[in-house]
Formats: sequence, C-alpha cells, structure tokens
Amino acid sequence: MWDRRAVLTMGTTQRRSEGLEGVVAGRTSISWVGGESSDLVYRGYDVRDLVPGLPYESVAHLLLFGEPPAVDPSPVVSGALTGARTVPATLLAEGDALSTGLPPLEALRTILSLLGDGSWGYPPRLEDGYRLIAQSPVLFARHVRRSLGRPPVLPRPELGHVANYLWMLEGHEPDPGKVGALEAYFDLLADHGMNPSTFVLRIAISTHSDLASAATAALATLKGELHGGAPGRVVEMLDAVGEPGNAERWVRERLARGELLYGFGHRAYKTDDPRGLLLHEIARRVADPARLRLAEAVERVGLEALRERHPQARIFANVEFYTAVVLEAIGLPPGLFTPTFALARTAGWTAHAIEQASDNRLMRPEIEYVGAPKGRRWPRPIAPN
Ligand code: ACO
Repeated sequence: MWDRRAVLTMGTTQRRSEGLEGVVAGRTSISWVGGESSDLVYRGYDVRDLVPGLPYESVAHLLLFGEPPAVDPSPVVSGALTGARTVPATLLAEGDALSTGLPPLEALRTILSLLGDGSWGYPPRLEDGYRLIAQSPVLFARHVRRSLGRPPVLPRPELGHVANYLWMLEGHEPDPGKVGALEAYFDLLADHGMNPSTFVLRIAISTHSDLASAATAALATLKGELHGGAPGRVVEMLDAVGEPGNAERWVRERLARGELLYGFGHRAYKTDDPRGLLLHEIARRVADPARLRLAEAVERVGLEALRERHPQARIFANVEFYTAVVLEAIGLPPGLFTPTFALARTAGWTAHAIEQASDNRLMRPEIEYVGAPKGRRWPRPIAPN
C-alpha cells in the first residue's frame, strides 16, 4: 500500500467540517433559525406571531418581498398564483404520461423537472416562482388522483392555495378545520434557513442553473429520511408501537438494534423545534385523541431513551414528529407527507433562488484528498489511441 504520511501532506486539512457543521456558506435575510433559543423568524417576524392564522399567500409574500402585504391574503401573490394555476395543455399531457405506479415523491420530482421546459433561465424570475408554487400542486394532485383511478379536479379561483390543494386531491369541499391545520403546516414549513435542500438549491442556482432544475435537485435532497423523508417513517413507528404501554419496550429495543427514531434530533435545534411545538398544539385540536396519546407516549420515552444514550447531544423532537400526526389527521396518506412538505417549501425555495442570484458567487467547496499519493504507475503499458 501507500505511505499514509505522504497522503497527509497532500490533504487540504484546513477548516474541514464533516457534515459542514458550523460552516457559514452565505448570507440571507429570508429566515433565521435560532437553534439555541427555539426560534424561527421570517424576515424579522416570529412564526409564533403568524401561525396559525396567516394565509400561505401572505407568508409567501413576506418571504418573496421582505415586507407583509397590505391586506391578507396577499392580493399580489393570490392573483399571481390564481393566474399561474392554469397549466398549459402540453404540460398536463406530459404529467398524464407518467406511470400511475410512480410513487408520489418520485412523481413530484419528475413534475418539477417537467416544469423546466427550457424557457426557465438564469437569473430566476418571480414569474418562475409563481409557476413553481402554483403548478406543482395542480400536476401533483392530478397524478395522485390518476393513480387512484379518479378523474382530475381543476383548481377553483375563489379558493386559497392550501384549500385548492386539498380540493384538487379530494374532489370535495375541503373541511375548514383541515384547511386551517394544513395552512398552518404550509406556513411553518415555508422556509428554514440553510437546510440541506435549500443549500442544494442555492448551489444549483450559483452555477446559473434555472429554478425548476434547482427545485428538482432540492426535492431529491429533501427526500432523504434524515431530512424531509422522516414523517412517513414516524407513522410506521406509531403503527408498530400500537399502544402507549408498548412504547418503552419498543423504543429501547429499536435503539439497541442501532436503528434511528424518526422525528427526533436536529442539526440546528439543540432545544425544542418551535415548529414542532406549534404542530403539537394543532395536533391537540385535530388528531384522534388515542393517536395523540400514543404519539405523546412515544415522544416521552423516545426522548428519555435518546438522552440516556447520548447525554451530550441535546436531542429534542423535530418538526417531523407532529407533522406526521397532523397530516395524518388531515387525511393525507404517509406517501404524500414529503411531497406536501416540498409544496409548502416552494415559496422559500423561490425566495432563496432569487436571493442567491442577486449576489451570486459560484459555490464550490474543497474536499480533502485522502487517496493514494501521486506517482503510482499503471501496471501495463498503455498503447496510444
Ligand atoms: N435516533 C437515534 N439516534 C439518534 C437520533 C435519532 N433520531 N438523533 C441523533 N442520534 C444519535 C446520532 O446517531 C449520534 O450518535 P453517535 O454519536 O453514536 O454517532 C448522536 O445521537 C448525536 O447526534 P447529533 O450529532 O446530534 O445528530 P446530527 O446533527 O448528526 O443529525 C439528524 C441530525 C440527522 C436529524 C438525526 O437526529 C437523525 O437522524 N434523526 C432521525 C431522522 C429525522 O427525524 N430526520 C428529520 C430531521 S428534521 C428535517 O430535516 C426537516
């Protein structure tokens, strides 16, 4: 083998951070994540002062323009989204050509890619963002219904963004309580600093790629279970536990096998995730009481067991834990949880894409080379072409 000391002399060992922990890779004025103080702030507004209650259109307005709209819901964003919800026939046909067997997450990832028809360029425009925010749920709900053998349901101009999503999925008048809970969820998930998917989106934009392509890359990143792919796993956990009395044994056996407890832990929050606290409150209003009791039992013993095993780590429940309880209570199947997260995040992704382009520098980190040192010889003669 090769000489390890020589390898070390070749490495760029300065400022290395596995997982990029603590690395500041840019500046933003869109949202601030207070990981030590349990804060999430949009453009200076504490989300606790906005949610529940604020229409998603107004949150999107705040994220996109930096200031609140004159009235709620934002007439500017509502009007733009209503107009953009009319999807061109060619795009509808392309969406309808997707296999009905394609799982929801993969379908949405493909739909985001379809949106990028070559006309989206660099720098990203607000109109691109409106298309991303408005057309993704139209095409996605259509795919979900087609997969169930149901006819498409067209959006209605008099409904808000979140009510329209439920209407297009379910095909009946959306229940106001469910719309309120889902609206709060959309508001809370609309942006979150430099999380992995937003980071990937900003890297793509930094290369002068377009918003549809960047959002496709972002969703591919959101999908993972360590990020936005966790809430469906939380439902599987709750189903497997079955009743509160089983939680202690189930959780400890799972951790003893070295498996993760989904919905716990966060890279940024070393205290309560404020979104999780608000979603827990919403769950108290909308969830089946028995399901909520089960979730609370799993949360309690999960935290106890994780803190025993990792006393230094400061582990709390993350946003995905009560996301699972709330989205389930709204009636969404687990397969729709992560796509719904992504649809809520489209406003934040748009704001970040525009912000990145407004003061761009190509993002290109280093990687420390730990392979064989220069100087190895190929074992056979290489004949020139
Ligand atoms: N289950 C089991 N062990 C855990 C969990 C968990 N949920 N969370 C942390 N740990 C362990 C880690 O494996 C690590 O163990 P080690 O020291 O033996 O390697 C120790 O606790 C310390 O972990 P941290 O350094 O605090 O965690 P990190 O910042 O690397 O990871 C993450 C954060 C990925 C979210 C992690 O907590 C996790 O895997 N959680 C479960 C998946 C999940 O819920 N993801 C959704 C996150 S929210 C979002 O992205 C929208």
